[in-house]
Amino acid sequence: MTDESHDAIESLFTESRLFPPPKDFGRGSAMSETLYRELLVEARTDYEGFWARLARAEIDWITPFTRTLDESDAPQYRWFDDGTLNVSANCLDRHIAQRGDKPAIIFEGEPGDVRVLTYRQLLAEVGRFANALRAQGVKSGDRVVIYMPMVPEAVIAMQACARIGAIHSVVFGGFSSESLRDRIVDAQASIIVTADGGHRGGRIVGLKAICDKVVDECPSVRAVIVLKRAGNPIDWRPGRDLWWHDVVAGASTECAPVALASEHPLYLLYTSGSTGRPKGIQHTSAGYLLGTIITMRWVFDIREDDVYWCTADVGWVTGHSYVAYGPLACGATMVMYEGAPTIPDPGRFWQICERHRVSVFYTAPTAIRALKKHGDDYPRAYDLSRLRVLGSVGEPINPEAWMWYHQVIGQERCPIVDTWWQTETGVHMIAPIPGITATKPGSCTLPLPGIDADVVDSEGLPVTAPDKGGFLVIKRPWPSMLRTIWGDPERYRETYWSRFQGRYYVSGDGARRDADGYFWVMGRVDDVLKVSGHRLGTMEIESVLVAHPLVAEAAVVGRPDELTGEAICAFVVTRDPRPTGAARAARIAELRAWVGERIGPIAKPAEIRFADNLPKTRSGKIMRRLLRAVARGETVTEDVSTLENPDIIRQLGDPETE
Ligand code: WT7
Repeated sequence: MTDESHDAIESLFTESRLFPPPKDFGRGSAMSETLYRELLVEARTDYEGFWARLARAEIDWITPFTRTLDESDAPQYRWFDDGTLNVSANCLDRHIAQRGDKPAIIFEGEPGDVRVLTYRQLLAEVGRFANALRAQGVKSGDRVVIYMPMVPEAVIAMQACARIGAIHSVVFGGFSSESLRDRIVDAQASIIVTADGGHRGGRIVGLKAICDKVVDECPSVRAVIVLKRAGNPIDWRPGRDLWWHDVVAGASTECAPVALASEHPLYLLYTSGSTGRPKGIQHTSAGYLLGTIITMRWVFDIREDDVYWCTADVGWVTGHSYVAYGPLACGATMVMYEGAPTIPDPGRFWQICERHRVSVFYTAPTAIRALKKHGDDYPRAYDLSRLRVLGSVGEPINPEAWMWYHQVIGQERCPIVDTWWQTETGVHMIAPIPGITATKPGSCTLPLPGIDADVVDSEGLPVTAPDKGGFLVIKRPWPSMLRTIWGDPERYRETYWSRFQGRYYVSGDGARRDADGYFWVMGRVDDVLKVSGHRLGTMEIESVLVAHPLVAEAAVVGRPDELTGEAICAFVVTRDPRPTGAARAARIAELRAWVGERIGPIAKPAEIRFADNLPKTRSGKIMRRLLRAVARGETVTEDVSTLENPDIIRQLGDPETE
């Protein structure tokens, strides 16, 4: 948390449109106005009883639990901790009797290939791969890194880990080799599961080649299992590299799900924070599974005959909770798409919706904005009449994008569920219930039953005045919350619990509530950016920049961007005199490529400005607030006379400074 965080919390605009729930939405829904009210009351009057009842109703337990919540080691909260279960059995085995031949995954590759896996087939594939992992010596508690394209095998690998108690750590395929290496090393993974390549944006992303660059620097890795997906040529290291099709060839499809404690870690997922190093967010089994199930039901109103499609990659938490686990645990049919939304043209998403009769669709504001830019003709060319719920996640959705989603995609028929949550929260926390909650463009509306969210001031007192900003906090532990940061419990405590002395979980977001109690998330209050909905730490990018031999100092800030939400703007001081002319352009290209190689293409600064030095306080702290104003092109009104070099503001303000 920076000392300047408060200025982030200022409410600037008010949106007053209100969209009541469509009248006939409720028919066939498991949720009703009455039930919703009852859930809210039950959670308020008997918090633990509420969660215990849901956990008993929604999870198939191997050993039933008797303890609901253990707070004795707070903030290491434990839920349902004397129970045992298997998450994979809850996602697959339990559906076989009733839904064995129901499609679980309808996969469409970017080139257009389609593959359908029924629940029975998926279970068999998961069993085979689980046995293959075991044959490679993988035991309960071991870490397996998954670096895959968006293909069914990514989900199969995750489910196979869950089946035998291995802890998966999925690394987004867009991350560079160095990011991959850091995550493998931190997790001490023994196996990497990857593919020769994946199709993305009309090209092949050579995932295996990216792994090859770093596996030698990861002594914990015993084997690299390679799925043949794109057929691109790859290098091969005998004794270490194994083809997926070879390791499953002799394996049995039967693999009994292991009984695991509720608190057994299910996965690690690395995410950016306000310091340089990504954190391994650790989720557990029972509480997390419960959260995915109830939110699939409450927020997506998932029904037996739905075709559900979440466009998120399995490399992000959305692809964990709402691709790999939640939909399967609910026995839903889901679409999985490998590629980019604009291949072969910007109608691809809508074509997929028509082709597979998608009824529940979940995507990110950045995708909505990008597709909106291409006009209404693309969506109008397809039959979108089956859509009934539209979801949004990753960043605040601006009202213009919301209205387009509502009018052009949802044809004013589909409730929009704007879901606020985080990698750390595991599942949706603040979101409307479709058919019940009236929506307002840009607001994630109200906390779900059992979620005690609030906006508090710097003293931790609730902000009661409408539209006044504060810190978005959660006041009670909830089952799907993160349990710790892998290998760093102190950082867990410090990051999420220290600000209000352990009383509340601190999300790092600023928010306000309007007169109806609706939440409006106003963005991060720490040094975290949201670029196309992806979370990036400014410090992470800064430390990569200063590692470049030419760079003496760097400061990274965000500025609003129409398409990506926020754009990365880097201020750089070079060791040599400030580059000008052609040298300047060359340096910019070099530094962008440098960041891309070290973190991934998503972290490349949209803009780099060179300066002779950076504005600092007397104590030597970089004045990011000033830099943010400069990046936005605002005039700096505050007194800069105490700066080391007040003139620097003028230089920074002109990106073309020569
Ligand atoms: C951060 C979490 C949640 C899964 C995908 C991103 C921002 C997320 C919303 C929303 C406003 C949102 C917040 C949050 N955010 N959803 N509906 N409205 N802001 O997960 O990478 O862990 O990022 O994304 O700033 O803290 P994540």
